[in-house]
Amino acid sequence: QAGDLARDLGYHVYAVGGFVRDILLHRRNLDVDLVVEGDGIYFARRLALDLGGRVRAHKKFKTAVIILPDGQRIDVATARLEYYEHPAALPTVELSTVKMDLSRRDFTVNALAVQLDPEQFGRLVDFFGGQKDIKEKTIRVMHSLSFVEDPTRILRAVRFEQRFHFQLGGQTERLIKNAQRLNMMHKLSGSRVFGELRLILNESKPLACLQRLESFNILESIHPLLKLDGNRQRILEETERVLGWYRLLYLDPEPRPWLVYFLGLCSGYNQSQVHLLAHRLAFPQKRENFIQQLRQDISQCREQLGSWMQNHGQVSDLFFLLEPLPLEGVLYLMARGYKDPVRRHLSLYLTQYRGQEPDITGKDLQQMGLPSGPLYRTILQRVLAAKLDGKAPDRPAQLEM
Ligand code: CTP
Repeated sequence: QAGDLARDLGYHVYAVGGFVRDILLHRRNLDVDLVVEGDGIYFARRLALDLGGRVRAHKKFKTAVIILPDGQRIDVATARLEYYEHPAALPTVELSTVKMDLSRRDFTVNALAVQLDPEQFGRLVDFFGGQKDIKEKTIRVMHSLSFVEDPTRILRAVRFEQRFHFQLGGQTERLIKNAQRLNMMHKLSGSRVFGELRLILNESKPLACLQRLESFNILESIHPLLKLDGNRQRILEETERVLGWYRLLYLDPEPRPWLVYFLGLCSGYNQSQVHLLAHRLAFPQKRENFIQQLRQDISQCREQLGSWMQNHGQVSDLFFLLEPLPLEGVLYLMARGYKDPVRRHLSLYLTQYRGQEPDITGKDLQQMGLPSGPLYRTILQRVLAAKLDGKAPDRPAQLEM
């Protein structure tokens, strides 16, 4: 459809970046990036009409995002159009506009394009040897100033390297070390570092990325507290295992993996140390408060779980203990309890009990003529507890007519 529309408008349009890379790697990628030689925003609006999506446009950058009803995103950028400025030069400049767009990108493997307009549908545009680097499993920067221009690319390089089981090119690796010597990480704002760190922690194997970053001393140069000691490393390994297990269950809701890993990265630190990390990563106050509170709740839960085990507590006690914790907190508890028999109970809780509700509602109680008040909560909790513990509910005296 994008191709047909481009033909109707007389534009050239290309799929670019990670989308093309992932086609060549036979990997699924639902995020499509398009570059349009023409008016990108107008193109996006027309395409959204055809596809039934919404458009968010950034006039300043001449870019737009189409959001389709199923949540899929199509990013549309406008190639810098010299040929608008010099129409006579059109034939020769035509490809150089995509070339310009591609040359500004981070790595050769991300600097590939596929033409989509029918004139040359499916033509692979590869000016920088991206295809060869994909074959050779190499992450290579486009030019030697790449990391100095944008130090987040250091984190991206390692993320792609580990995700695809590639290797950094020799020169690229030297440039990372060089950027380290120039202290480039210090120059990065907290929110940009966190943006990249979150992407790393949302990868399926973040630990390998973190270890690789550590081997370049990059974690420490972000903040001295960002360190993988043996204990943290083991917790992160277990987190990977727990999240892998949870993923296979296809349970709702999906957790935020980065948050579970981040808790692991903070393990062994006190509140003020976590504050320092949060400060470096420019957490908004709300996020920092949430994490500090979550850490407190988790450590309380850990203690209470200990006595629950000792006292052979009921399922319902476990339920009421864990239910207020965000899912990520429970997963983290599982990762922490790696040799602990409590892990089995936590997994049972997640697979069978979390989110359970009593079989009656407040409305039922109302219909029974019970005056509304705090008693409702107690009754509903007792009904739920009875259900969880597999007992017939003790009929609360207040329900007697
Ligand atoms: N890009 C870049 N420099 C950056 C960030 C992004 O050059 N610091 C370019 C890359 O060419 C990348 C494209 O912008 O392919 C889109 O960025 P993003 O969506 O982050 O990259 P993907 O390659 O699609 O990564 P992922 O598979 O993780 O979504």
